[in-house]
Amino acid sequence: MHTTVVNSLLGAIDDIGRDARRGGYSRPVYSEAELTLREWFTAEATARGLDVSTDANGIIWAWWDLPNAADAGDASRDGALVTGSHLDSVPGGGAFDGPLGVASALAAYDLLAAREAAGELHRTRALAIAVFPEEEGSRFGVACLGSRLLAGAIDPVRALALRDRDGNTFADVATAHGLDPDRMGRDDATLARIGHFVELHVEQGRGLNSEAYTDHAGRGPAIAVGNSILGHGRWRLRFTGQGNHAGTTLMTDRADPMVAAAQTIIAVRAIAAAQDDARATVGRIEPIPGGTNVIASIVDVWLDVRHPDDAITAAIVEKIHLDAQTIAAAEGCAVELVEESLSGTVHFDTTLTRSLVDSVRGRVPDAPLLPTGAGHDAGVLAAVVPTGMIYVRNPTGISHSPEEFVEDADADAGALALAEALADLL
Ligand code: GLV
Ligand code: MN
Ligand code: MN
Repeated sequence: MHTTVVNSLLGAIDDIGRDARRGGYSRPVYSEAELTLREWFTAEATARGLDVSTDANGIIWAWWDLPNAADAGDASRDGALVTGSHLDSVPGGGAFDGPLGVASALAAYDLLAAREAAGELHRTRALAIAVFPEEEGSRFGVACLGSRLLAGAIDPVRALALRDRDGNTFADVATAHGLDPDRMGRDDATLARIGHFVELHVEQGRGLNSEAYTDHAGRGPAIAVGNSILGHGRWRLRFTGQGNHAGTTLMTDRADPMVAAAQTIIAVRAIAAAQDDARATVGRIEPIPGGTNVIASIVDVWLDVRHPDDAITAAIVEKIHLDAQTIAAAEGCAVELVEESLSGTVHFDTTLTRSLVDSVRGRVPDAPLLPTGAGHDAGVLAAVVPTGMIYVRNPTGISHSPEEFVEDADADAGALALAEALADLL
């Protein structure tokens, strides 16, 4: 394999969705940028002779049918091997979170198709590449919205009522992009087609860079196999106070929800720091109305909490809620907490994971098993089909930021490892 295959595929979308203000990329689902990426994927897959379609939940499927399949609706797609990832990003995200898995899937397909043409691969099932919409939940608030709908992990009525920052409902946006809201939701016929799902992803923390795996020169294996995803959820805290004039309202006369929100954010950090293995983040806050000379009337604070033990996650959120209530009351404000999404800790399918380890270690003998703190569509699908993951080293250890990085050689090592793993499963 040429040493820049995967990153040159990504090179074609290098300019799409760049965010001059935040840095990196902002590619929210169904934005012009994400739609352009979908077109790019569709063109790449179609050029390879794959049969591309979009399902009722907005997931793109590119099918490599068995050579003797009768037609596209052929039952030979049932129990297929599926790989893929997502193309949407967080605001100001990196180039690899999502697109690396999609580009690697295309590169792996190229390797497998060449092997089949050479008579070296004899498949017993079809392969599909899937692209999931709204993995990040950056537009409608619920991460992995496409895979949740497919798997029945979210009520479609609730999903369709979700709103983006401009007030558009998911129902309206989906309709505008050719989807029928009445057909959205759990799709057993599509699920029956997924025999196994394998997602390749950039490693999003310092797992592969940790001392456990690196030598004196700080170099370790380029690839890991995933074994678990940390339980995580999102909540919104709404602080309500008295909107007022910044100049005429004495400091003693205020009920300022911004102050209550600020004190709660400090408490969030302290509560999480006191609990082993916990992570809690406030990455988004929105004052209403949001004027320099205006005491806010409402402040919305979004909370992300993660812990391996789901009961501890719940206890952390409960403690944050109680502290927020005490803080709000002292400021003359009120607070309400709303859960926006919750995903328990996921352990990937052990048989599939063992198979991925065996395949990947044929190329990268010291590839470790790695847990992750990041959420993925593979984590949602794990409830309904056997899933597994492959991670590619990220030398910066930084993600959800423009500094996320993957070296060319590692990206290609990832595609080779993915191809090996898929060949063994086909
Ligand atoms: C997605 O990457 C998440 O972990 O929130
Ligand atoms: Mn991702
Ligand atoms: Mn992400």
